[in-house]
Amino acid sequence: MLFSTSALLAAVSLIGQVSAHGYVPIVRINGTNVPGWDVTKDGYMNPQPLRIVRATKPDSGFISNPASGDITCSIGNSKLPPGPITATVAAGQTITVVWNTWPIGHYGPIINYMAKCGAPGCSSWKGDSGAPWFKISQETYNGEWPSDKLARGGFTSNVRIPANIEPGDYLLRHEQIALHGASQQGGAQFYPVCIQLTVVGGGSLRPSGLSFPGAYKATDPGILFNPYRGDAANRAYVVPGGPVYAGLT
Ligand SMILES: *[C@@H]1O[C@H](CO)[C@@H](O)[C@H](O)[C@H]1NC(C)=O
Repeated sequence: MLFSTSALLAAVSLIGQVSAHGYVPIVRINGTNVPGWDVTKDGYMNPQPLRIVRATKPDSGFISNPASGDITCSIGNSKLPPGPITATVAAGQTITVVWNTWPIGHYGPIINYMAKCGAPGCSSWKGDSGAPWFKISQETYNGEWPSDKLARGGFTSNVRIPANIEPGDYLLRHEQIALHGASQQGGAQFYPVCIQLTVVGGGSLRPSGLSFPGAYKATDPGILFNPYRGDAANRAYVVPGGPVYAGLT
């Protein structure tokens, strides 16, 4: 029996799809598709390619311990880019984070944080000490979980960079938290993705105050949460990491 190469490739990529929860191979910035981190290819290239999205887990697996070092930027803290790279974005602009896929039923919020990179720049700065992070936006249940909306809507998520933060190099920590197993402690699945950006324009605000690890605890009401108690309980969901930083425009 003969199999065409394309049929074989299709079968192989299907297997890849089944095992993948989701990762971010593309970030759309100012009309350009900038390569993110493709877990099917980038981790196997030698030398490691320069990407604005830090490496995420090879199996696109999740982080289950919010106190682990991986909570900052997935495995990005042990696998930084091999050289300096950022993408330029204007303060106040909206970028689109493009996931490769996302399963319906991996219910949860979508949360965005930023941190101004310390010296010597975003590509070598870990962001895992002190409290450099601040929350810029969050989407929560409003009759539908944001992750399900993303799964039905082309796997994209828009993130607006605040207009009044000071210009410079930042990590954007874009995160989905899947709550389908979160009724039990340790059951929430964290999918943080760190994107290296140079913000131009902007204002003079220099927010901070949150740490990763540190901002989340396994027993936070938004992390130890049963999503099967109905609409009213879901509407009362408290997104972890506190409120959006006050004063952002
Ligand atoms: C966005 O694209 C426009 C048109 O190509 C360009 O003029 C502008 O400088 C870009 N903005 C940034 C922040 O790169």
